[in-house]
Amino acid sequence: MKHKIVCASVLALLGLSTVIAQEMTNEEIAERIKPVGNVKVAGAVDASAAAAPRTGKEIYEKACTACHAAGVLGAPKTKDAADWQPRLDDKGFDTVWQNALNGINAMPPMGTCGDCSDDDIKIAIEYMIEGI
Ligand code: HEC
Repeated sequence: MKHKIVCASVLALLGLSTVIAQEMTNEEIAERIKPVGNVKVAGAVDASAAAAPRTGKEIYEKACTACHAAGVLGAPKTKDAADWQPRLDDKGFDTVWQNALNGINAMPPMGTCGDCSDDDIKIAIEYMIEGI
């Protein structure tokens, strides 16, 4: 009988301490989530501002279509094999890419895309010549 009472109070204590432990843990979690969450949000905003992943199509439509859709100033027309194939055959893709980065004749450096990386220009070219 005495033994049972001891057991019951040990169990009660255990139960109580579990509740306390949970409450403390929740408080700790709440305390920790707040600053961590803020850091994460700030980091996410920075990351998206610096390197929002865009597709070649999106970059093309923003920066290249004005000249390359209709062949303005002699620009090779988008998806037009007759315009692109000789350039690719003569110079190779890497040189064509470099020329787009640095500019060539009436083709402005980076196609005037101020926030494009070199790789952004590459995937925009790949979009323009895709399927030719
Ligand atoms: C202001 C008009 C204009 C814009 C905007 C423009 N281009 Fe061009 N682009 C040209 C012209 C004109 C040429 C042909 C240059 C030549 O070979 O004489 C050209 C040529 C190119 C070439 C072929 C280079 C070579 O060596 O044959 C690539 C690649 C290219 N552009 C990519 C792009 C990309 C990518 C964009 C957008 C990020 C873009 N261009 C935006 C006018 C433009």
